[in-house]
Amino acid sequence: MNVWHCHAVFAAILLVLMPAAPALAGAMTPKPDPEKGRALAERVCVACHVVSRPATSTVAADVPSFLAIANKQGQSMEAIAGRIVIPHPPMPAVALSREEIANVVAYIMTLKDAAAP
Ligand code: HEC
Repeated sequence: MNVWHCHAVFAAILLVLMPAAPALAGAMTPKPDPEKGRALAERVCVACHVVSRPATSTVAADVPSFLAIANKQGQSMEAIAGRIVIPHPPMPAVALSREEIANVVAYIMTLKDAAAP
């Protein structure tokens, strides 16, 4: 009787804790959110880059569009993130959190064209 009671309590604790574990892990390493990244790009990066897919306008001829960046041969999330973290003139050192960088990189990668060379 006592043993069963103990087990029930233990099981109840496990049931309460188990769903919390993945939720906690998720909070610590949030999944990159391309939608947030797009909002950020439209706020911060649009001053120089064409950030959306239909590249009908150019801001400056020597600034690559996000579409072009995404479709550069051998492009990877790490490479894009690296270019954001290490600023290059005239690109200002934009103070972005790691989460914001992950989001904006995720957004840029949504522009990658499977058909592109
Ligand atoms: C003040 C203008 C300016 C702003 C604002 C700006 N950029 Fe840039 N960015 C540039 C220029 C100019 C280049 C090309 C420089 C070069 O090729 O060395 C560049 C290049 C890049 C590259 C590398 C492209 C490649 O060919 O690999 C990435 C990635 C990038 N920018 C991302 C961003 C992101 C993300 C933001 C917003 C958070 C941003 N930039 C905001 C001017 C800007």
